[in-house]
Amino acid sequence: MPKITVITRTGESRDVDADNDLSLMEVIRDNGFDELLALCGGCCSCATCHVHIDPAYADKLPAMGEDENDLLESTDHRTAQSRLSCQIPVTDDLDGLIVTIAQED
Ligand code: FES
Repeated sequence: MPKITVITRTGESRDVDADNDLSLMEVIRDNGFDELLALCGGCCSCATCHVHIDPAYADKLPAMGEDENDLLESTDHRTAQSRLSCQIPVTDDLDGLIVTIAQED
């Protein structure tokens, strides 16, 4: 079970255990980080699960789909590290990942 470090919008960090059956969004939400709204429940239609991924893990993530890219284009805080956390399945490769919840639009 990979361990992931989640950093909040105020800069607080906490290590959480991530279940391989879940998406990164579900791991963050289920561990009580309420600021990650994930309003669409993981359907890739809201962008409220926007996070910034540690660049060292970029090549361990699935490629970004067109819908995800379009949604991220609509956000004010997109960077090269931006992903929608509902589109990232947890795998053992993500052990040690640092993920920062993006600022709210
Ligand atoms: S939860 Fe809505 S796009 Fe990820």
